[in-house]
Amino acid sequence: MTTTVPSAPDIHRVGVVGCGQMGAGIAEICAKAGLDVTVVVSRPESIAPGRRRIEASLDRAVAKGKLAADERDAALAAITLTSDLDELADRQFVVESVREDESTKVELFARLDSIVKDPEAILASNTSSIPIMRLGRSTGSPQRVVGVHFFSPVPVLPLVELTGSLLTDDDVRDRTERFVTEVLGKQVVRTEDRAGFVVNALLIPYLLAAVRMVESGFATPEVIDRAMQLGCSHPMGPLRLADLIGLDVVASIADSLYEEFKEPLYAPPSLLVRMVEGGMLGRKTAHGFYSYA
Ligand code: CAA
Repeated sequence: MTTTVPSAPDIHRVGVVGCGQMGAGIAEICAKAGLDVTVVVSRPESIAPGRRRIEASLDRAVAKGKLAADERDAALAAITLTSDLDELADRQFVVESVREDESTKVELFARLDSIVKDPEAILASNTSSIPIMRLGRSTGSPQRVVGVHFFSPVPVLPLVELTGSLLTDDDVRDRTERFVTEVLGKQVVRTEDRAGFVVNALLIPYLLAAVRMVESGFATPEVIDRAMQLGCSHPMGPLRLADLIGLDVVASIADSLYEEFKEPLYAPPSLLVRMVEGGMLGRKTAHGFYSYA
C-alpha cells in the first residue's frame, strides 16, 4: 500500500539529553540536518568529552569522504553543550539517550515535561527496551511522549524504531515519523510498545547465546565472530557487536526483556553480569570480549 508522506513538520530547535555514543550520534545527525541542537550532559565535566566524541565522529565522516570540512565545522557550530536541563525550555523536539535505567529515565521525563513548555513539543526516548507507557506516565502529558530508537553507529545505520504508548497521540507519531525520515534521513519501522521492540527482541537472545557459548567453553569469541561473519555475511560477529553496543547496555536490555517476558533466553548469563560488574563494558572501556587498548 502506498501512503502519501506529508511535508516535514516545522521542527528547528532540538534537544538531546545524554552525550554517550548514542546521544552524541543523534546530536551529530541533527546538526548535519541543519538543526539548532542543545545537548544536555549530567555535569559540567562531561561537556568537553561529549564535544570530543561528536568531533571525532565528524572527523571520521570527513576522512571517509562522507562530509566536507566546512559541513563538519557548520555542524559543530550548531551544537551547544550544557549541563543545565532548563536550557531545553524552547525546544520543539527533545530526545533523551541517558543510561538505560528505568528510574533514571522516569525521573528525567517528569522533569522534561515541566521544562519543555510548548504543548506541541515532542518528548522522545531512545530507549531500546523500556516500554514508552512507563515513561509517558511519569509526565502530565503522555500524549506527547514517543520512542525513537536509533542504532549504533547512529550516523551510519539507517533504522529508527518508532513506538508510541497507548496514550501517545497519533499526530505525535506522525509528526515524529516525518521528522525522522524527511529531516534526519532515516527509515522508520513502527513497533508495538513491548520491551525490546522488534530488533532487540531478536538481537539480544542471539548475543546472549554467543556469550553462553564462550562461557561454556564451546567456542572462543574469535571463532564465533569469524563463523557469523563468513557464514552469514554479518558485518561483525556477535561478541564484537556486544562490545560495540556496550556490555552494560546489553545486560540492561536483557534484564528488561526478561522482566517483561520471563523467558530464560532473555536472562543475562553470569559471565556477562560479572564482566559488567568488573567494569569490562566493551569498546568504551577498551576491554570486553576483546581488548581495544
Ligand atoms: N559518518 C558517516 N558515515 C560513516 C561514518 C561516520 N562517522 N563512519 C563510517 N561511515 C561509513 C563509511 O564511509 C562506510 O560507508 P560506505 O560503505 O558507503 O563506504 C560505512 O559507514 C562503513 O564504515 P567503515 O567501512 O569504516 O567500517 P566497517 O565496514 O568496518 O563497518 C560498522 C563498521 C558500520 C560498525 C559495521 O561493522 C556494522 O554495520 N556493524 C554492525 C552494527 C550493528 O549491528 N549495529 C546495531 C547495534 S544494535 C543497536 O544499536 C541498538 C540497541 O539498542 C542495542
